[in-house]
Order: sequence, then structure tokens, then C-alpha cells
Amino acid sequence: MKTQVVIIGAGPSGLLLGQLLNKQGIENIILERVTPEYVLGRIRAGVLEQGFADLMRKAGVGERMDREGEVHDGFEIAYNGKRVRINLNELTDGDTVIVYGQTEVTRDLMDARVKSGQYSVYEARNVQPHDLTEEHPYVTYEKDGETFRIDCDYIAGCDGFYGVSRKSIPAECLKEYERVYPGGWLGVLAETPPVNPELVYVCHDRGFALCSMRSKTRSRYYIQVGSADKVEQWSDEAFWDELKRRLPEELAAKLITGKSIEKSIAPMRSFVVEPMQYGKLFLLGDAAHIVPPTGAKGLNTAASDVYTLSSILEKVYGEGRSDLASKYSEICLRRVWDGERFSWWMSNMLHKFEDTSEFERKIYNSELEFFLNTESGRKVLAQQYVGLPYDAIE
Ligand code: APR
Ligand code: PHB
Repeated sequence: MKTQVVIIGAGPSGLLLGQLLNKQGIENIILERVTPEYVLGRIRAGVLEQGFADLMRKAGVGERMDREGEVHDGFEIAYNGKRVRINLNELTDGDTVIVYGQTEVTRDLMDARVKSGQYSVYEARNVQPHDLTEEHPYVTYEKDGETFRIDCDYIAGCDGFYGVSRKSIPAECLKEYERVYPGGWLGVLAETPPVNPELVYVCHDRGFALCSMRSKTRSRYYIQVGSADKVEQWSDEAFWDELKRRLPEELAAKLITGKSIEKSIAPMRSFVVEPMQYGKLFLLGDAAHIVPPTGAKGLNTAASDVYTLSSILEKVYGEGRSDLASKYSEICLRRVWDGERFSWWMSNMLHKFEDTSEFERKIYNSELEFFLNTESGRKVLAQQYVGLPYDAIE
């Protein structure tokens, strides 16, 4: 088999890249390790930056997002008995975010790929990139006991943090940066009406909490838990009781609880690998970087990698600009580190981490006061939350 781009991974990064390349007339094949159902079973954040939403529309898969997604022009931060609303619309001259679950984003992208007739292989085993520094690399994989080879021009590693792509690059060519936080997010999905029409991030002495949603009838809540916590230790009742202890009184009083339809603990980690490319292999999304979920930047930073690579490949194939391929990592990392910094900063300000000194805790409290109680502080917060504009690829 031969194609122009092999995409490893059918998560949001791989599917969105495949859709954009297809729109640009660039042939691509997706190789995914698990089934479509398994991919759709992953519950992740659901706040889309303006840039991501525009990319989905450009990819021709924005219709249901625009119909069912909720435009949010603000969110709240609750701390020390106060609730401060960040008016995104006003503070960013009109930018907003869309609340629309990652599962739905993935479903829309999967449906569009099937409709486009592009080739995808699910349950592809032992996917291996080869000859990454040659003119024409190739990828092998196993399916139903047979081994297959796909010759290509480029390989897009969209296979997440535990994928094969980053591991295919010689360790001496990479530099990894990491901070593992002493805690995680215990998340619950419930068929209950959200306690508040906008997201509420809570900084409390007992720990962080977040009130989010998927629709007007489906809520998503999180509480910060310890690194040693196991989801089995948390009954629904224990979760709701702890959430109520951390919410502002008026929200706790009107919280509608219910049976969890999904309950899991997500670890908190900041991670970046540099560079995000090697030879003809590009790393995108979680394959190259991870953020703590606090700033909802995981999916959005993955989308900006997809925007950058699809824009570069459009010029490589359309204008012979093969020089641009070597600029991918440098362009992506500017926005990656911005997302990393914002997520780290929001996490430290809003969480009580056991490895934060008393002095640092005072600094973070002072920082929270400054950014919430000054117009300029709220403006900085709002601009980063809605996301910085994508860099033009010239
Ligand atoms: N071969 C083929 N597919 C693989 C392999 C492999 N060796 N390893 C992993 N995969 C697949 C996974 O099964 C998964 O479907 O790659 C996909 C990677 O998807 P994600 O982990 O969702 O990563 P990405 O598409 O970059 O999306 C980033 O997802 O994890 C969230 O918070 C993250 O919102 C962010 C978004
Ligand atoms: C979510 O709805 O899952 C969500 C929203 C905002 C965040 C993180 C997670 O910052």
C-alpha cells in the first residue's frame, strides 16, 4: 500500500488531521490500535477554544457542534466565600468558548471520515514507523494475523502519551520536560441538570472542585483527590458529599445529585517533548505534550498542532514548500508552552497541593486575588482561557 501521510491514532488529533488533509486533497490512512467504540468510550474535557471550533468548521464537521454545543461567554472562580465571574466576551472583545464534549467531537470526526470513504484500520496491532530519516518512510502493522506495509511521504504520530511514535525517536534526539502533580481529578458524569449555567472553578481549603456540564441535562463534576486515591474508594454518595463541602453554600444547596454514569480519576501531569518532529515523523497532541486538565488546554493545544501540520502540508504539496516541514516543531512549541504555562498556573492557583510550601501558598493566594480583583488581571485570564490566535504559516 502507498499513501501520502500515515496517521497513527484515531483520537481527536488523528481524526481532525485526517479530515483537514482530505479537504486539502492529501491522501492519508489512519491506523488505530483499538475499536471505534473504545475510542468513543473515553470521557475527556469539553471546552473548545474559538480556534478549535473554527478548525472543526473548516474540516466540515462543525454542524452538530454549532447546533448542540453551548456558547459560553463567561465562567466563574469561587474562593474564600467569593464568586468572581470572568466575562470572556467583554474582556476579549467578543471571544467565547463552546462547551461540547470531546466524545461528541470524536464522534462527529469519525462519522465524517466514514462518509468521506478514507481508509482507516482499527484494531491495527504492532504499528511500527520505519526509515524515519529516509526520503520515503514506511509503517508496518498487523491485522488478523497478517503483516502489512504502507509506504508514505510523512508520518503523523497522533497516538497519545503512551503511543509508539515518540518512542520511535532515538532518546538522544529528544528532551523531555515534566511535572507530576501530587493529586488527581476524580470526575463524575451524571444525568442531572448542571448546578450553574456556566463553569465554576472552586479553590477551597479541602481541595479544588469544578462544576461543568455536557448539556442542560448532563453534568460533569470534579474534585481534587490524593495521588493514592482509587476510584473504588469513592461511592457516589461520598463524592457528592465532598463536592458539597467545597462548593459555595448557595450552589451546594441547589446541587442535584444522581447516579454516576461514569466515574474515574485522571492524574495531573505537565509534559512536553522537544522537538516535536524527527525526520519525516511529526508528533501531535498528547504524543508530544500533556497538561493538567485545569485550563481545558489538552484538546485545544492538540488542535493547534493539527492546524500547524495541515497548513504546512498544504503548502508542501500545493506549493512545493518542503522547507516548511522542518519548521513544524518550532511553530507548535510556542503555543504548546503557552498552554503548559497557563495550565500549570491555573492548577497551582486553584489546587491545594501537599508539596506546595506555606510561602508558595500565600503567593498563589495573592496571585489569585490580583488576577480576579483587577480588570487587567481578569483580561489576562480571559485571553488565555479563550486561547491565543494560531500562527499564520508563511
Ligand atoms: N498504534 C495505533 N494507535 C495507537 C497506538 C499505537 N501504538 N497507541 C495509541 N494509539 C491510539 C489510542 O488508542 C488513541 O485512540 O492513539 C489515540 C490517541 O488519542 P488521544 O490519547 O486522545 O490523543 P489525541 O488524539 O492527541 O487527543 C488529545 O485527548 O487524551 C485527551 O486530554 C487529551 O483532550 C486531549 C486529547
Ligand atoms: C470538563 O467539562 O470536563 C472540563 C471543563 C473545563 C476544564 C476541565 C474539564 O477546565
